[in-house]
Amino acid sequence: MDIVSFLGRLHPLVVHLPIGFLMIAFLIDLFFKGEKRKSLKSGVLFILVLGFLSSVGAAVLGWLLSWEGRYESDVLQLHKIFGIITAIFALVALWSRFFDKDKVYATSAIIIVVLISMTGHYGGVLTHGATYLTEPFMSANEESEETSSLASNDSIKLYEHLITPIFEEKCYSCHNDGKMKGGLNLTSLAHLAEGGDSGHYLFTKAWNNEIFQRVILPKSDVKLMPPKGERLTYQEMALLKYWIETAKGEELILSADNTPDEIQFVLLDQYNLDLTPKPLYEKIKVTKISDEDYQALRQAGWNPKLLSEENHLIEMTPLSPKKRPSFQTIVDLGVQDKIYKFNLNNFNVTEKELGIIAQCNHLMYLNLANNNIDDSRLKKISNLTHLEILNIHKNAVTDEALALLSKMPLLKKVYAWQTQITKEKATEIASKTKLTINTGI
Ligand code: HEC
Repeated sequence: MDIVSFLGRLHPLVVHLPIGFLMIAFLIDLFFKGEKRKSLKSGVLFILVLGFLSSVGAAVLGWLLSWEGRYESDVLQLHKIFGIITAIFALVALWSRFFDKDKVYATSAIIIVVLISMTGHYGGVLTHGATYLTEPFMSANEESEETSSLASNDSIKLYEHLITPIFEEKCYSCHNDGKMKGGLNLTSLAHLAEGGDSGHYLFTKAWNNEIFQRVILPKSDVKLMPPKGERLTYQEMALLKYWIETAKGEELILSADNTPDEIQFVLLDQYNLDLTPKPLYEKIKVTKISDEDYQALRQAGWNPKLLSEENHLIEMTPLSPKKRPSFQTIVDLGVQDKIYKFNLNNFNVTEKELGIIAQCNHLMYLNLANNNIDDSRLKKISNLTHLEILNIHKNAVTDEALALLSKMPLLKKVYAWQTQITKEKATEIASKTKLTINTGI
């Protein structure tokens, strides 16, 4: 190690000297008055000289330390400026005490106490990070809240939600804005892109990437990261590898489709995070139907049923086979959005009624078995973007309709036995899309 670096590293040791000297001088002057104060003057002046010299010494050593280039930031600038002003005011205090300028002395003493606190605080931020002081007040809850909000989050960002917490826990203390060991700042994607002392990092194969290479080294290797404290777990390494190779230094939103099984297992196991899409009825939130509207629907011949106490979507079934329920009431009450299911088996549905069904844009399940649906009538409901299951058992629908059905975005299952849809065509559609068409035997 060269001599400049060595001297620079004495800075943390030496900074305590001016703090001690200056404080003790001020304390003596605070407690002793009158004759006593006069008799202590030469002693206090001696301590103030030591205070001034050691503050200059601390500033010079700090300046040498900053040459190492580990702490490039605004925080460093503030620390530097406050440190230098402290030394200047130490001289002012010495001068004013010598010439008995009591007001100037008292003022400079107060200013010095403030300056030392500021300098010390920024020094702490440089070595320990910005949250060092407030950390003990942060509750353990804050962390667990974060994980639970992750579990309910629909768009999981690989870097922000999964990689950042790993870096934060195991790397930030040495690779941040203020402290850049190895010339590396891991606190943002932009800084990551700048790389470290050994250059830019490739986001292609993890084996070529300096960050990944460093975390998988054996325990005995001096280049292992983090050099002290807990190493990355196997699961964290897997996530890091996936991030390096897939996101290539960009942000990536994880979904069930783009995430390999082994990563999904890690997420489920370690983060209680399930990427498999939620059923639609859990995603769609509607307000509860009012009691009056509920009664009005019953009057109109419907038997409306809430999906659950928490979920206010409703299922609509005719109250009795004898009374034909009114679709117009649904429109009049404006409750189309609340309906997720229609049971209209053997209903002889009219074209006008199909038009109203088509307005229920949260409809997920539609039972039209035993009706008079043909290809052209089926077209009327082909705009139902949330429809997942359609029962058209015993209708006059043909293969022509399949092109239409396969275009409905969420449709997964069509019950189509006793229709004119052929098994061949149904199998062909199933092989090309996510749609299964059940044509019976
Ligand atoms: C206790 C401090 C400390 C911690 C914590 C730490 N590092 Fe380091 N890191 C260093 C030091 C010191 C160097 C420079 C010496 C070296 O290259 O080994 C360095 C260098 C590096 C380098 C090489 C930079 C380059 O381009 O040469 C990488 C990559 C790195 N660290 C990654 C990490 C990762 C990832 C973590 C968290 C898993 C981490 N470090 C945690 C102290 C630390």
